[in-house]
Amino acid sequence: MTSSPPRPPGHHAYYDDAHAYDVAFGYRDVDVELEFLLAAARRHGTGATTSFLELASGPGYHAGAAARRGLRSVALDLSAPMIERARARAAREGVIVEGLVANMADFRLSQPVDLACNLLTSISYLTSTKALHEHFACVARALRPGGVYVVENNHPDDFWTRAHFEPSRWTMTATEGDRTLEVFTSWIDEPPVIHLVAQTYTVKARTEVTDTTPAGVARRTLIDHATLRMIWPQELVAHAHAHGLALARFYGALDLDVAIEDARAWRTVAVFVKTS
Ligand SMILES: C[S@@+](CC[C@H](N)C(=O)[O-])C[C@H]1O[C@@H](n2cnc3c(N)ncnc32)[C@H](O)[C@@H]1O
Repeated sequence: MTSSPPRPPGHHAYYDDAHAYDVAFGYRDVDVELEFLLAAARRHGTGATTSFLELASGPGYHAGAAARRGLRSVALDLSAPMIERARARAAREGVIVEGLVANMADFRLSQPVDLACNLLTSISYLTSTKALHEHFACVARALRPGGVYVVENNHPDDFWTRAHFEPSRWTMTATEGDRTLEVFTSWIDEPPVIHLVAQTYTVKARTEVTDTTPAGVARRTLIDHATLRMIWPQELVAHAHAHGLALARFYGALDLDVAIEDARAWRTVAVFVKTS
């Protein structure tokens, strides 16, 4: 599927520069994270995991890793350049990632999967209660009975203390062929606007990209704003429950040994199982 769905507000400039995003967020140990997802499915779900869906996949780090391990793998994202990048990387690696350009609150898979995930707090782009409700309906339909859905979201302490709203700045560099990108990211580039009743906040992101090829050096700056939702753990439980997904456990990181109350906890990682 290549047609683009209508796009709810989001960091479109930021995410449509898929190469720059890939460099900026390339710091994670994707194989270790995928191992956690598979272990969570073994611990809490039933049946074997042979198929995988990465929602709000970005460049599909985890979908690619799942395909390399022999799983049937699907990456879904609102941004066509992200999905193109996920597909292209998989093809270079000799595996297949099926790409879907779609809204995670309005999608349908051709066949259900055993394991779905939504990582790096991307569920916060569902800013309305209606969108969250529709999202969980779509996920429930996309999973087989006994299948597992893992959501990695912000830790509630980050909202209570407002630590989440501190600026975060970092630089990453990566070379692909004869092209080197240096990407400086400033997330929460200025104090966010908090909308108390909507449980949302509007943030500015700024990215400075230095793109070096044999033809020379090109620089670009991407600035955009997006509204995200502070989603609290019990809201996830309520929406999931309404669609036949039972909470198995909350973890505090993508790590089976870190409980959500643990001093090392820094994320809300909710593991849901489709009960019927
Ligand atoms: C922070 S990035 C995370 C990407 C990926 N999950 C990762 O771990 O790197 C958020 C992604 O969510 C996507 N996104 C935002 N709203 C979406 C929606 N309603 N449906 C599908 N994807 C969405 C963006 O295009 C972007 O690629």
